[in-house]
Order: sequence, then C-alpha cells, then structure tokens
Amino acid sequence: MPRNILVTNALPYANGDIHLGHLVGYIQGDVWVRYQRMRGNTVHYVCADDTHGTPIMLRAEKEGITPEALIGRVHGQHLRDFTDFGVAFDNYHSTHSPENRAYAEDVYARLKNAGFIDTRAIEQFYDPVKEMFLPDRFIKGECPKCGAADQYGDNCEVCGAAYAPTELKNPYSAVSGAKPVLKTSEHYFFRLSDPRAVAFLREWTRGTSADGTRRLQAEAANKMKEWLGDGTTGDGENTLSDWDISRDAPYFGFEIPGAPGKYFYVWLDAPIGYLASFRNLADKRGDIVVEDFVDPTRAAAAGTEMVHFIGKDILYFHALFWPAMLEFAGYRTPTQLCVNGFLTVDGAKMSKSRGTFITARSYVDQGLNAEWLRYYFATKSNGTMEDVDLNLDDMIAKVNSDLVGKYVNIASRCAGFISKRFEGKLGATDAAATDAFKAAFESGAISQAYEERDYGRAMREIMHLADLANQYVNDNKPWELAKQEGREAQLHGVCSTALTLFRDLTRYLKPVLPALAAKVEAFLAIEPLSWQETWAALPAGHSINAYAHLMTRVERKQVDALLEANRESLAPAAAETKAASSQQRHAEKQQHEAQSAETAMAHISIDDFTKVDLRIARIVSAEHVEGADKLIRLQLDIGEEKPRQVFAGIKSAYDPATLVGRLTVMVANLAPRKMKFGMSEGMVLAASDPDGKTGGLYILSPDNGAAAGMRVK
Ligand code: 2FM
Ligand code: ZN
Repeated sequence: MPRNILVTNALPYANGDIHLGHLVGYIQGDVWVRYQRMRGNTVHYVCADDTHGTPIMLRAEKEGITPEALIGRVHGQHLRDFTDFGVAFDNYHSTHSPENRAYAEDVYARLKNAGFIDTRAIEQFYDPVKEMFLPDRFIKGECPKCGAADQYGDNCEVCGAAYAPTELKNPYSAVSGAKPVLKTSEHYFFRLSDPRAVAFLREWTRGTSADGTRRLQAEAANKMKEWLGDGTTGDGENTLSDWDISRDAPYFGFEIPGAPGKYFYVWLDAPIGYLASFRNLADKRGDIVVEDFVDPTRAAAAGTEMVHFIGKDILYFHALFWPAMLEFAGYRTPTQLCVNGFLTVDGAKMSKSRGTFITARSYVDQGLNAEWLRYYFATKSNGTMEDVDLNLDDMIAKVNSDLVGKYVNIASRCAGFISKRFEGKLGATDAAATDAFKAAFESGAISQAYEERDYGRAMREIMHLADLANQYVNDNKPWELAKQEGREAQLHGVCSTALTLFRDLTRYLKPVLPALAAKVEAFLAIEPLSWQETWAALPAGHSINAYAHLMTRVERKQVDALLEANRESLAPAAAETKAASSQQRHAEKQQHEAQSAETAMAHISIDDFTKVDLRIARIVSAEHVEGADKLIRLQLDIGEEKPRQVFAGIKSAYDPATLVGRLTVMVANLAPRKMKFGMSEGMVLAASDPDGKTGGLYILSPDNGAAAGMRVK
C-alpha cells in the first residue's frame, strides 16, 4: 500500500533572508520527499512564511511600510530562494491567511471547551511612549550581575548571567529609549500544567508510528525525558508550566475571539500554519481530502502520516506544545519529527565578519550550482540531530571527485561513441558487469538509507557503485577499442553497459540531484527514473540523445568570491546585530546554547587528543603589532633553540607589558601560518565567553612548578 504523507518544513520568519543554515533542514526534507515519491508514495509537501509577532511589526514600521507589505515582499524572496535550491514545496503559503485564522480559532475554541485555557493577570514591562508591552529582547539595561551596559532583558552577553527583565538596572526600551514601567494585563494560558498533558506527552514522545518508525530520534526522545521526567522517580508528578499564548495590542497577528485587544502569540499560530498551507493546497487542487490528515479517527482509518522536518532549536515547540495542542483540541498528532542540527562553516558558527553567514541568494547570484550544495549536505547528513559542518575545501573536493570525477565521467567517456559510431542506438549489455548493480537495486540498501535520512550512508553506497562502474570502463578502455578494427561489437557493448550503470547511479542520486537527473533522463531518452520498476538494463536498440555537458567542477575562486560577497566589515555587522529581530537573536542564542552543550558532549578518542602537542610556554616578549587591532606579537620559549613567534588575538584583553615573563599554554604542532605581519608558529590558548566576544579573554596559567617546554597532556 503506498503511503500518504503530509510533509512540512519549519516555517521561516518573514523578516530575514534564507541562509545556508536554513537550507540544511529544507534540503533534508526535500530529498526525503523526492525519495518517497520515487517509491510510489503520495506526498504533500508544504511550507509557509511565519509572519506574525512584534519583530515583524516593528521591522515594517521601521521600513515605513505595513506588515502586510513586508511579508508580501519576503514571501516572494523566500519562495524564489527555495525554488532555486530545488526545494519544491507543493504549496508555499503564509500564516497571515484566512485558512490559518480559521484553524487557529478552531484549535483555540476546542482547547477552551476542553478546559485547557486559563486567564490570569501578569505584570510586565511596558513602554509608555510606544504604548506597548515589551518582549524581553526589546528591553535593555545594565546587567544586574556584572553591571555591563546595554544588555538584553533575558541574559548578559558579557558575563553570561540569565535573569528576568525586571532585574536589569536602569532598564530602557530598545524601541523608543523610554524607561519602561511595570503594568498588569490579563493573559491567556494553555494549561499544560494539567496532569493529562504530561501523561499524554510522555506517551506520545516514546511512541512509534504504525510502521515502527520512532516518532522522535533517540537524542530528541532523551531531551524530552529531561523536560518531562519519566514519572518513575520522586512523586512522579512532574508538571509543565502553563504556556502564555496571548499578547496585547499592538501586535501583528490574529485577535483572539471574544478577547478584544488580545492576540494569539506567534508561536501558537506558527505550526498551525502547516495545516493552513495544506488546506490552501487542497482548495487549489480539489483532489485532497484534508480531513483524512487532520481528523484523528479518519487519519487512523486512512493511515495518513504527518511528518515535520525542524531544526533542533525548535524541538521544544514541536515536541511539547504542538502535539499537546493538537491532542487536546481533538486533532491528529504528528507521526514523526525529523530534527536536524545546526550548520557550522569550517568548524565554526556562521560569521558575518568571516563571510560565512552565506545567504541563499548570494550563493545563486555568485553562479554556484545549488546541486553542489545539495550533494555536499547529503554526504554530511546522517538522520541524527548532530550539527553539519560545511567545510568549503571538503565541498570542493567531494563535488569534484565524486560527482564530476566519478559519476559524470562515466557518461562523458562512453556516450560519444554511441552517437558517433552507432547512430545513437544502444547495443547489448554485459550481464556480468550489470549484475552487481541489479543486486544493489534489489537489496534495497540505498533506499533504506534514504528512508532513515542517513543520506551520508546512501552517498557512500552510491560512490562505491560509481567506483565499480569506473573500474569497468577502465578495464575495458572504450577509447582503445575505438581505435582497433573489428572491435565494434565490443565497443558498443562496453559503452551500452556503462550507460546502464550510469542510469542506475542517476536513479540513486535523483532525490539529491533532481535537476541533473532530469538532464540525464532527457539524454538517455528514458521515463522519469523511480524505485518502482523491476530492474532491467537499457535495451539494445534504444536510441539516446547526444550527450551534453552535465556538471562543471567547483573552482576555489568561486567559493572565495562567495565568501567575499558575504563578508561584512565589523562595523556594519555590529550595527546589524543590534537591529536584528529579537526572534533571530533568540534563535541564535538557542542555537548557541545547544551548540555549546553539543560541543561539550562530542567525543574524540585519546589518539585524537594526543595529536595535539600542548606545551608550557614562557612569554619572552609581547608587543603591539602595527596595523593590527586585535593582535599581540608574542615570542614564546618552549625549551627550543629559539623562541617561537605567535600572533595572538588577545589585544582587547591584555596590555603586552603585563604578559612578559608569564607562563602559559600553547599548541606547538600547529602548522605554521603566514600572516600579513609574519609567520605565526603556533597558538596560545585562551578561555572566552561562548560568543567569542572580546569582553572576556583569559589566557591560561599553569600551576607553580611548571616550566617552559613541559608537555601538557
Ligand atoms: O524558529 C523559526 O524560525 C520559526 N519561524 C519556526 C516556526 S516552525 C512552525 F512552527 F511554524
Ligand atoms: Zn553581566
């Protein structure tokens, strides 16, 4: 029985550009959808812009346009970005839509009837000039712990302290600059403290769907246990806090029925936007029965699935609030959450000053091929919540060696002979050479890897087959057969066989490289490739079209130009960070925290660790570097004949004079690096706050008794 699946990707906020970090999850979702369709399953793939909330309202105001005009413009940009990366939603809608209002009102009314909505008065900061309540991120002031100025209302970026906005000293509104006053207003709450909520969520998060697939990946399920407790310890009475789902006017969103001046909080109607986009699609199409996907009884009878692809920063919303909302409003709950990690670039958080905060648009505009990135992300995806690192040199190497060097090379070496020597018609194929491919197809190993979203494993299997195909071509050397008389039949057979192998590789790569696969289908003059047919070689006598170039190599200079195009000098970047919406800041913060935790948890082997040669170093001299605003030039004695020169980015924290004579720790076997100011022959270690901000940098000191040159292990 073919499956019937509603697949969604997280809805991006309608006030920011799509960047490569976003694309990790979208590409993973799109690959899975394409794979499912090749299996003959029905998939409805929807997304939308997440349009509500204070930051979008304020951003529109700043631009002097209405929020509707802002979200209209961004909608077009987002859709274009997704389309250009081959992320092919069946519908790209908006949470600011009649369908979403209808669903939000319905969910709310049902929760209310079921006794899950409460109201209570809460006191919050209010901007008396702007006449609005201020979200935490729009309140600034002095940190209550360290006194640092201009800190946000929820945590201090200098000392890392977390606090309530009311604890800030000398608070001011980031919107108007006014001193906020405390004001009470009535808020609406979703009563997650109801014991039924925890009981339901414990059950739900542990569950599996009909085919045995877990609703949550193991790491996500563990997180949930942390949040929910497992009910086996203590009094077993863990409860969740009620969730504040209302915001006061002025707010860009939907007014709550029967509550003038109160609006649904953006996170209430955001996931409901999945259903709204689906409803909108169904209304346009006419052949989709929405109730079979949203009504729990009908969904169970029809066996439909609802699968959400999300990033790990929004797991909390999707694994707690969202299923609970659906359950207690009498809707079907999600079948599966597919949670992806964050993107790092060259091992570090994306950075505007390094140019690694790369927008989707700039990637396309710089002329890079979207399928290079799709392939690279596929090789790095394993179906877990682990972060994905985009190592640009590695991407160049993988694309050039796997796709151009191995895969495309098979066709480019064989196709010409078919056109020139055999009038474009294929000959008989060699069963001994195609058997391994037939067996691979029938084993289902590659499709299984796709199903599990372990695309990295799928790509490795495919490249193993590509190696076999190249081996076959290398062994049979069609270019030599072509020069020998009387070897026509053999030449014909070898090239036809190689093209059958190439056809198979194309099938396997098609979920990842849909545009390339379409070109190959046209070139081979075959029906769209799928996973449904029984395996057969391309038949003798079949006519193919002339081979046209399929994919170019990535050049380092293209990647450099991309980085350059995204590099922002530090000054504007800082200004922009200040103006960034609170939602983005918040997401970044969550990303950051999760990343720090992840980094702390990732394991390396002792062998990995011992590769790093850490030494106690005595700072022989320290001086300012002319023309460098961050660096100090150090001469470090580690017991070698002459001291090592190291440039350390610690100028913001240290006066060079105070460093001379101190002992510290350096990495002694780092490859020497030529810098603008001379060679740097190692690195000193320093602790810093997680953002790497210059506010706090602390070089290390060994205990008394340590001496220059000692190994640290
Ligand atoms: O974190 C975000 O970018 C949100 N806009 C995601 C919303 S996903 C869904 F709930 F709408
Ligand atoms: Zn502080």
